[in-house]
Amino acid sequence: MQPDSAASAWHAHLVDDHKALRDLLTQIEDALHTRSVSIGEVGALLGELGDRLVKHFTLEEEGGYFVEALQHAPRLVAQANRLLAQHPKMCTQADQLVNLAAAPASTDTWWAETRERFLAFKEELLRHEREEDGLLQDAYHQDLGSHD
Ligand SMILES: [Fe+2]
Ligand SMILES: [Fe+2]
Repeated sequence: MQPDSAASAWHAHLVDDHKALRDLLTQIEDALHTRSVSIGEVGALLGELGDRLVKHFTLEEEGGYFVEALQHAPRLVAQANRLLAQHPKMCTQADQLVNLAAAPASTDTWWAETRERFLAFKEELLRHEREEDGLLQDAYHQDLGSHD
């Protein structure tokens, strides 16, 4: 049996959102590495990341946070709740990155500190996203397997 179409569409939307987030993270990392743009432009990218994250987390939370997937695999509920609980902290960290860009104390210090904090944030966010992708794969895989 295939997952129902609404769940499939939601899943596809989420996977697209994850890819767009990863692309934006790469763009910001490149900008911080090469210093090829102004601090203001990095600030704009970080602001875009913060806005995108809020929308992304809302999509996950208002979509019932994998509710369709979890109906197929209730054993994954605890893992889903653990991931959900990480959202507020990551929103706060994204806001802090934006604030760094709002009032840079000194250019060299700013680039080094922002890059270091951004890379730590990126690692945490990517780990979160990978676990979500894995959870969805697990849920749908189990559903497909149970109907063989
Ligand atoms: Fe999430
Ligand atoms: Fe996500």
